[in-house]
Amino acid sequence: MSEGLDDVVAARTVLSEVDGAAGRLVIRGRSLDDLASRASFEDIAHLLFDGFFDDLPRDLQRPLGEARASVFAHAAAVGELSGLDPVEAMRALTARLRDGDDLATALRLLAAPAVFIATVLRARAGEAPVAPDPSLSHAADILRMTHGRPAGPGQAEALDAYLVTVCDHGLNASTFAARVIASTHAGLTSAVLGGISALKGPLHGGAPGPVLEMLRGIGEPANARPWLEAALARGERLMGFGHRIYRVRDPRADALKAAVRRLGALQPDASGRVALAEAVEAAALAILKDRKPDRPLETNVEFYTALLLEAVGFPADAFTGVFAMGRVAGWIAHAREQVAQGRLIRPQSVYVGPQPKAA
Ligand code: ACO
Repeated sequence: MSEGLDDVVAARTVLSEVDGAAGRLVIRGRSLDDLASRASFEDIAHLLFDGFFDDLPRDLQRPLGEARASVFAHAAAVGELSGLDPVEAMRALTARLRDGDDLATALRLLAAPAVFIATVLRARAGEAPVAPDPSLSHAADILRMTHGRPAGPGQAEALDAYLVTVCDHGLNASTFAARVIASTHAGLTSAVLGGISALKGPLHGGAPGPVLEMLRGIGEPANARPWLEAALARGERLMGFGHRIYRVRDPRADALKAAVRRLGALQPDASGRVALAEAVEAAALAILKDRKPDRPLETNVEFYTALLLEAVGFPADAFTGVFAMGRVAGWIAHAREQVAQGRLIRPQSVYVGPQPKAA
């Protein structure tokens, strides 16, 4: 038995490889470093879907834009969901979409977290929803639908780099959940709903909020070292550092750091935040190395995620929903791959309860 299935290999996949020892993430034969600086979300979705849909068009920008417009028709129900957390409201709206295994269902699901998170945030602020513009890129339209105005300089590119960076990551908890559901042939909508539900937990998709709280607490670069040392002395962990699989630097942290730097260069008001984050990162890495020389503790994906999503205008409680906007591409591709492999996932358990007594 393996609690948590740590050492169990449960799928054969052509989609992504996480090499924790080398600090490398490969997505369909391309390294993340290469993809994060060159590919758009539409490109990466095409790369992941290739071979899993017979009728996949060459360019997904327009079909995905039209799928956003089709999904927007279901966003009117947002009024019934006030009081729910953004991810719960997005999940409830996604559950209204028809189940299926075809490309049209896949494109609607690819669009759904983006359209619904934008609508939920606007409804919460008492603002009218903004209908999608199918002619825009997915990232640019997400920001326009959320803020009610075109994205600022570099913002759509930064969000695009984030969506590409988090699109897939081996057999993480939400992807495994999606594959288990897909293996029953329940349909893509059911698989994506399972993925959203698993992602919502703080042990999976909910960590970047605390990174922002840490930066807020530190305030300015000169406070970094004493603040971090005091946190460790209280027995706390430094948010945005360490990883279960990566024993060297998480390659996604570097991809996001580069995107944050590019954005900081274009937004004068964001450059101070970037300088603060870099000072905190440098101080944290030095302190962790000093305290734990035998245990490599490096920057993980959540550290620069927090900074990037803050800089493009998302509130901290929407970060998990924005994560779903990117990861949904991986869930759909994994669900299709699982169905193509045709094996129902059905592990066994060891019964440790009482046995019936003889009459
Ligand atoms: N700050 C300080 N010490 C740490 C940190 C950290 N961020 N991470 C691990 N350690 C220490 C632990 O205290 C432990 O020390 P000990 O042996 O003296 O008890 C040692 O390193 C090993 O800790 P584990 O929990 O076994 O490490 P694991 O690799 O399982 O944990 C985790 C990974 C949960 C991400 C951890 O590093 C952590 O809590 N980080 C902070 C929270 C965070 O950034 N989460 C986002 C992760 S990225 C993602 O999930 C997508």
